[in-house]
Amino acid sequence: MHEDAIAAFAPATVANVGAGFDILGFALHQPGDIVVARFNQVGTVRITQLTGNSSKLPREASLNTAGVAVIKLLEHLSIRQGIDLELHKRMPLGSGLGSSAASAVAAVVAANALLGSPLKKIDLLPFAMEGERVACGAAHADNAAPSLLGGFVLIRSYAPLDVVELNTPERLYAVVVHPHIEVKTQDARDILKKTLLLKDAIVQWGNIAGLVAGLMKSDYALIGRSLSDVIVEPVRAILIPGFSDVKAAALRAGALGCSISGSGPSVFALVCDARIAETVAQAMQDAFAEQGISSDRYISKINQEGAYVLPYSQYAAL
Ligand code: HSE
Repeated sequence: MHEDAIAAFAPATVANVGAGFDILGFALHQPGDIVVARFNQVGTVRITQLTGNSSKLPREASLNTAGVAVIKLLEHLSIRQGIDLELHKRMPLGSGLGSSAASAVAAVVAANALLGSPLKKIDLLPFAMEGERVACGAAHADNAAPSLLGGFVLIRSYAPLDVVELNTPERLYAVVVHPHIEVKTQDARDILKKTLLLKDAIVQWGNIAGLVAGLMKSDYALIGRSLSDVIVEPVRAILIPGFSDVKAAALRAGALGCSISGSGPSVFALVCDARIAETVAQAMQDAFAEQGISSDRYISKINQEGAYVLPYSQYAAL
């Protein structure tokens, strides 16, 4: 890679975080995607290379989450310059780890840097969200915002977009277990009920407020009590064999709370000690194994940095 090419990394994320469907998410350190952007002479955006877990991804830029995000960014800036993108897919697809968001975020961060950084990081979010629209039909921001910004992020409003960065309690760890089954976000959204009961809404908004308060006050017990989703999780649990056993195992092993990561099938738990994180991860993996399902695990402090431009030395070493 030379000066005319810029690489960026964007991390995996856990969206929803229990009760916060489409409005809450946080970033992990790994896995994540890398996108390399360079100018071309053809005046359009092209996906010139796909590596890693990319066999099912469209090469056509207008259909690819990374490609669309950069097309929308260039349109916004009224720039006719073409850009080639290499997408190095280092995370599983359909995993509930925000794979499509990571690609879109890495792409806009790389392209923006290549263009001389005309936009601030936060202002790249709407373009990354367009990537989500092609990926699953909804321009939700609860993966893209934390992947871009790091930390816990609240989407207070979509129209207008109002993104609030929250506090991360010092001792918090995330455990994410990815069972080797695939759930498409669009399918996991299509099965959701379109209306809900007021009594369920009351429980849900109590938990969202409780979780945000728990994060701001570093109150681990409150975070644990608030990690409960009575609206989306009960419906989506049917897509994840053994989900209730996995959750029970995580709680027995000392997790503060446990729920589905994004649209699943990954399941996450929050814990407040590195040693307990190992025990919780093992218990969750064992519970999936009981169902005959193998899995990967990621244990991570909450990533506070989000996406970043990779120096050449780091990129070359990867
Ligand atoms: N909030 C989105 C959903 C996240 O649950 O469908 C998808 O990863």
